[in-house]
Amino acid sequence: MYEKEIAAAKEKFGELMLRQLKRVEEMKSQGDFKDYKSLDKIVIGVCGGDGIGPAITAQAQRVLEYLLAEDVKKGRIEFKVIDGLTIERRAAEMAAIPEDVLLELKACDVILKGPTTTPRKGDEWPNVESANVAMRKALDLFANVRPVRIPELGIDWTFYRENTEGGYAAGKEGVNVTEDLGIDFTIATSQGCDRIIRAAFEFAKANGKTRVTAVTKANIIKTTDGKFLDTFYEISKEYPDIQADDWYIDIMTAKLLDEMRRKDFQVVVLPNLYGDIITDEAAEIQGGVGTAGSANIGKKYAMFEAIHGSAPRMVKEGRAQYADPCSVIRAGAMLLNHIGYIEESDKLYKALDICTITEKKLTMTGRDTGATGEQFADYIMETIENL
Ligand code: IPM
Ligand code: MG
Repeated sequence: MYEKEIAAAKEKFGELMLRQLKRVEEMKSQGDFKDYKSLDKIVIGVCGGDGIGPAITAQAQRVLEYLLAEDVKKGRIEFKVIDGLTIERRAAEMAAIPEDVLLELKACDVILKGPTTTPRKGDEWPNVESANVAMRKALDLFANVRPVRIPELGIDWTFYRENTEGGYAAGKEGVNVTEDLGIDFTIATSQGCDRIIRAAFEFAKANGKTRVTAVTKANIIKTTDGKFLDTFYEISKEYPDIQADDWYIDIMTAKLLDEMRRKDFQVVVLPNLYGDIITDEAAEIQGGVGTAGSANIGKKYAMFEAIHGSAPRMVKEGRAQYADPCSVIRAGAMLLNHIGYIEESDKLYKALDICTITEKKLTMTGRDTGATGEQFADYIMETIENL
């Protein structure tokens, strides 16, 4: 019974295993992280995306150009605007990332990215793969770092979400064996677990953190989450001064709402899908997903982005200039820190706190009742000038 169907499914599974084993070989031969400090020149790609993306990203670029003015003049920093990662072009070419755009991205050392539209069933766009997910895979950006800070509640969390494996690695390679049986795959490799867990511990060590927490569902998803958890405790032995513990994703989701316990979490490392879910919850506690910035870091490339959507409606209604550039400017502050401009990054974080929390001279409403993105960027730069 079902011989033909099973044979066809086995063939697809075989191809999938080959692709993943090839990835393992690539990871094995990967060097160390790029050392930005040693570079004579750093090319910053500014990829606006679509919807309100180009408008808000242009404002973030102005702020970065202002902070890096001296090194731009010296030629150490170059900004390169990359157009073309729009849903219109992606749909026309049926490509998650058009070929020429990917080449341009690969010619940069670091990327600041605006939001990109992810089509979903029932909307006007064909079903092209998410540009975000495709970029993470194409540039091997395996660490998705999402900080959430709420000083008044004593919360200072940094999430290290694995960004290339888990349910996302073969998300579009599932198999309908028969009309009734669908099977998806979730993937963990020793190399993939090792590099994200090590990155989390290294971050903890470099930033005086005393605890790293792994989050899995290893009691149920025994093979892949099991590998993640075993790797976690193995690597933790190399960091005797850092407390290592683990939680299951369900109770962790609850504990983020537990005011007594949540303050104690510091660095959290977790597989892709759990990281996706829990970082939205954490950002919501901070004030909404629009308030968070996100870093996608690999050994060779790094990409920093706003984590909100592309708001095409604002563009249709002619309101793009009123879109709030705060989240992508925050991503810009993370970018500055990553490429070694620590002082400039700290200034930008301070200005963001002043402009959005303590002083808040401008209000953004998303329409002409509030400030424009350009006015907000001016306000940030004036604030930095007066620090
Ligand atoms: C995120 C987003 C993406 C993800 C979507 C847009 C594909 O939710 O960056 O968290 O699922 O990773
Ligand atoms: Mg998400």
